[in-house]
Amino acid sequence: MRFPVISVLLAGALMAAFGDIRTRQTNIKCVTRDPSYAKALVCRLNVLGRGIIGANVHVKLLKLPVRKVSINFSIFQKLSGYHPFLFNVTADLCHYMKHPNPLNVFYYFYGAMLPFINVNHTCPINHDVILKDFVLDDQMFAKVPLPKGSYMFEIKIISEGVWRGTIYSYLDINVDDNPRIKSG
Ligand SMILES: *[C@@H]1O[C@H](CO)[C@@H](O)[C@H](O)[C@H]1NC(C)=O
Ligand SMILES: *[C@@H]1O[C@H](CO)[C@@H](O)[C@H](O)[C@H]1NC(C)=O
Ligand SMILES: *[C@@H]1O[C@H](CO)[C@@H](O)[C@H](O)[C@H]1NC(C)=O
Repeated sequence: MRFPVISVLLAGALMAAFGDIRTRQTNIKCVTRDPSYAKALVCRLNVLGRGIIGANVHVKLLKLPVRKVSINFSIFQKLSGYHPFLFNVTADLCHYMKHPNPLNVFYYFYGAMLPFINVNHTCPINHDVILKDFVLDDQMFAKVPLPKGSYMFEIKIISEGVWRGTIYSYLDINVDDNPRIKSG
């Protein structure tokens, strides 16, 4: 499913009401489904400075090159348990690396990661995937209507048509309790 452009714009309009945004990553988990295809060597949050938390991921790919990648990206809000919230999109990563479109909700988030991830080029991918010290840019959330609370981003990675693994990224938006940081 392509997420309609209009929804991102509408979301931006809604978000205008929320004002100042503070975000914090609280946990990250990487689950690979086939150790002969991919291994998560690193998957953790690091404290980079006071209140600054960076995500670090190193996934070793054992069957190169990778020519087709699609991502199922959904957001869950934590209430009692995690519930699907707002976005559930499938995106062809190779397509968006060739034709970047910041109005696409997937690329809107992926674009913010480009300075930190080595998959910042068109396909194929011929190397391990490394995300280094990725810090959430509070501005990323200026255009998406995520109200105060705790969220989980579920990022399912499908390559050559096979579901290879899932990254779970946990973050708080405008939550003031004690910073906690976990990794797993
Ligand atoms: C990803 O999303 C597509 C389209 O909604 C769906 O057909 C596919 O089964 C999903 N894959 C996984 C691994 O969830
Ligand atoms: C997202 O949509 C796909 C297919 O449309 C469905 O299989 C999946 O369960 C949905 N995920 C969430 C979190 O709603
Ligand atoms: C892509 O990522 C690599 C490794 O992180 C970096 O050296 C390179 O400058 C990046 N290229 C672009 C166009 O951002």
